[in-house]
Amino acid sequence: MAGSVLWAVGALAAGVLQVFTSSTGSINRDLGPLLSQEAQIYLPGSEGFSNATTRWSAAARPDFKAIVKVKTEADVQHTIKYANEHNYPFLAISGGHGQTSALNNIHGGIGIWMRGMKGVKISHDGGVASVQGGIENGELVRALWSQGKQTVTTGCDCAGFIGPVMGGGHGWLQGRYGLPADNLMSARMVLANTTVISVSETSHKDLFWAIRGAGHNFGIFTEIDIKVYDRRPEQDQWAALGLTFTHDKLEKVFAIANSWLQSPNRPVELTHYGTVSLNPDINIRMPVITFWIYWQGSTIPKSYTEPLYALNPVSVDSSVTDLAGVNTHLAAAYGMAACWTGYSRQLYPVSLNSWPLANLRGLLEIFASMPSAFRSSIVLLEAYATNRVSEIPSESISYPDRGGQLLISPLLTYAANASLDEEAFSIGKRIRNMLLNGIDEPLIAYVNYAHGDESLEAVYGYESWRLEKLRRLKAEYDPHKKFNFYVPIT
Ligand SMILES: Cc1cc2nc3c(=O)[nH]c(=O)nc-3n(C[C@H](O)[C@H](O)[C@H](O)COP(=O)(O)OP(=O)(O)OC[C@H]3O[C@@H](n4cnc5c(N)ncnc54)[C@H](O)[C@@H]3O)c2cc1C
Ligand SMILES: *[C@@H]1O[C@H](CO)[C@@H](O)[C@H](O)[C@H]1NC(C)=O
Ligand SMILES: *[C@@H]1O[C@H](CO)[C@@H](O)[C@H](O)[C@H]1NC(C)=O
Ligand SMILES: *[C@@H]1O[C@H](CO)[C@@H](O)[C@H](O)[C@H]1NC(C)=O
Repeated sequence: MAGSVLWAVGALAAGVLQVFTSSTGSINRDLGPLLSQEAQIYLPGSEGFSNATTRWSAAARPDFKAIVKVKTEADVQHTIKYANEHNYPFLAISGGHGQTSALNNIHGGIGIWMRGMKGVKISHDGGVASVQGGIENGELVRALWSQGKQTVTTGCDCAGFIGPVMGGGHGWLQGRYGLPADNLMSARMVLANTTVISVSETSHKDLFWAIRGAGHNFGIFTEIDIKVYDRRPEQDQWAALGLTFTHDKLEKVFAIANSWLQSPNRPVELTHYGTVSLNPDINIRMPVITFWIYWQGSTIPKSYTEPLYALNPVSVDSSVTDLAGVNTHLAAAYGMAACWTGYSRQLYPVSLNSWPLANLRGLLEIFASMPSAFRSSIVLLEAYATNRVSEIPSESISYPDRGGQLLISPLLTYAANASLDEEAFSIGKRIRNMLLNGIDEPLIAYVNYAHGDESLEAVYGYESWRLEKLRRLKAEYDPHKKFNFYVPIT
């Protein structure tokens, strides 16, 4: 008896080994010749494999048996066809900043590494840029800027650009031009069955609605057309002022910010952005609040700065930069902390319309009592201008939270150690509950930050027609649920 069990285990192990070697052998043999000259196949152990699979958060662990660095749309088609034939799951990888939990459901997959596709071409009339699917945000900012253009780009250089667009997106110029997704004109997509379609207001119109908020569910974007705008010399500069306050100023700082949010004449130039973090040099136990004002222009009006100076910040940092430099203040430019890899990170987003003054202190208390393993964590407190965002009809795209003003997101940060994931999860949930305490609204969670445990309504909207429409489109365009690794519509 024991002998035959042992034998069975041995046979199983040998069988697994055989399948493994023959499958990795076969990807080079079977897929390799079909790919374009510059495409690459990387197997575990290679530098390319390691580069493609090293993610912003080490807590996101999609598991791959091979990486295909694609260079052309046909490469994407061939790779999907190959994966489908072998019944391997597949996943596009661009900036690698995605951290939602469904990414962990991919086992033995094929990674379709988009970083070989990062071209930008501006149309003759100068109003539209064709942007390839694997570009990083910082690359797009620079490519446009050097040609006298800009668009609604986001707050982190090293994140992908298509990623934010697929989830609606939030970025510096949204007050003037709407969300990144509002600026999408059309997209070329490879569907799960390898068919390529062009999606726009005149082609696959319903899908065009869906990909602007729930795009991860439907296909791989090889190229998008996005509106671009002329730089205007008088708008090129961004003044930034960062003030760090001790915890006792918390409510006063955010009461000032609430008065800005509630003002009927909120200037399009004004964005504010804070963080909560621990800084033992300032206070050994309690977190500090760093509050940034960003003003599109060379000087922030005194009416915004003076009330904050009056609260006696412990330190002040200021500069005037341009759109390419503005991410430095968030430590989110190339090479800076927000771009470092090697840490586990989990986000727990809560969207609100005003700073929840009564709950922020509880948030600080949770922070003050976190075990030492989590003391590099921060809370992101984002308030981009929303002027243009709120003028666009809510039903026009699938992004559901057009009226939202704020993104409040605890970002649990800790050493890459899976045994800490559960504890980070419980701290994140406590902070999320604290933020919503006593607020008569259900959770709204921005899809691009979503942890993955939220309800689909929290992510895709509470109006029932939204999920109904998304589910119908999911059944039509992805009937076999191949694109189910990023807040999947179920
Ligand atoms: C430090 C940091 C700062 C951020 N700042 C902002 C911000 O200012 N504004 C904002 O809106 N969001 C922001 N985000 C969130 C960001 O939108 C998401 O993390 C987004 O998923 C990142 O895309 P990526 O290409 O870097 O990640 P990836 O993990 O490579 O991709 C994310 C998901 O998109 C899919 N995907 C990638 N490329 C394609 C493609 N070409 N076609 C189809 N699917 C694709 C992937 O398969 C995956 O499911 C930030 C995130 C971080 C970590
Ligand atoms: C891996 O990344 C390093 C650092 O960016 C780079 O120098 C190297 O060329 C990359 N190699 C591959 C195969 O992608
Ligand atoms: C991971 O975290 C656990 C729990 O805190 C700890 O016991 C263990 O030593 C850590 N492992 C490493 C490699 O740091
Ligand atoms: C692929 O799916 C799309 C959307 O459902 C459909 O229109 C198309 O005909 C399919 N292509 C093939 C080759 O079946």
